[in-house]
Amino acid sequence: MKYLILTSLLASAAFAAPLAQKHGGQATQQQGATGQTPQTPAPGSQGTAQTPSPGSQGTPSQADLATAVANWMADTSMVSNFLNVGGSIQNNVAFKQAATVAFNAEVDELNHKAIIDAALGNTANVQAANSTLATGGAFMDVVNKLQIMSQQGMAAVNNIDLILQNRCVNVLPNIDAYMAATGDNQSKAVRPTVCDSTGIAGGVQGQGPTLPGQAPGTPQAAFDAAAALARGQGNGQVQNGGTAGTQTSAGTQTGAGTQAGAGIQAPAGAVPTGAAAQTPQTGAQGQGQTGTAKGHGHKGKGQN
Ligand SMILES: *[C@@H]1O[C@H](CO)[C@@H](O)[C@H](O)[C@H]1NC(C)=O
Ligand SMILES: *[C@@H]1O[C@H](CO)[C@@H](O)[C@H](O)[C@H]1NC(C)=O
Repeated sequence: MKYLILTSLLASAAFAAPLAQKHGGQATQQQGATGQTPQTPAPGSQGTAQTPSPGSQGTPSQADLATAVANWMADTSMVSNFLNVGGSIQNNVAFKQAATVAFNAEVDELNHKAIIDAALGNTANVQAANSTLATGGAFMDVVNKLQIMSQQGMAAVNNIDLILQNRCVNVLPNIDAYMAATGDNQSKAVRPTVCDSTGIAGGVQGQGPTLPGQAPGTPQAAFDAAAALARGQGNGQVQNGGTAGTQTSAGTQTGAGTQAGAGIQAPAGAVPTGAAAQTPQTGAQGQGQTGTAKGHGHKGKGQN
């Protein structure tokens, strides 16, 4: 089913290819650009007995982890490409198709996450990254907003700005951390053009991957910091949780009063960690946790 949908959308997916190439050197990314990223090696197909599908017994091999990293990069590239070009798509059908490609790539990322979780989920850095991606609701918020755009089309285009705020601050840096945990200190999640490694260039900023002991990042904290910046308040630095240490610049953090949302995404910890739970994920949208851009009242225009 998903394959058929994606196949019918190859035309709109094609523009994702150049972005994947940009971070080149990895031929596997071209496969990702068509939405057909190989998930996991078929058991036994690699000539080793250690190619378990995620969630099954056994620990993914180093090769499995490398494949997961490459495929995760390819998926992030596809999503980033939509965020780059979506705002300039003028045809509503084309917009929905492009959003659907991005949505499917985003959901597919959970397969790669699950492989790394299976091998390294008990390590402190992975758990910390997961606390923002899953527990804090950052990943699911991206999934939800992409799905809304795939369904509502250009009427929901403001979700692109909100996704950029949350994804570039919370999601992508923590995907970097997942990749680094595999021992790969080169691969990074592929950013949209407006983003740097910790947020939106010149806009809302986080502190990179969530570290052990730090409060999880949340979408709302990123939205709030971006909105404050757009009002000319604060310095765009996201403040997560009630960690006193992050409040040192409080004098200029006028937006801090709106940071109470830090915990409201908690129910969103619905990001499944097992690959088996991945498909039902799209059905989990009814949480109403994100709503649409209007729910936040932010226009995200303070991004640059
Ligand atoms: C990630 O967070 C979710 C939701 O809190 C939790 O169910 C899962 O066990 C966590 N996984 C890891 C590897 O910490
Ligand atoms: C990345 O890993 C390689 C191989 O382990 C190592 O030689 C190199 O110094 C590392 N680079 C960084 C920036 O950590």
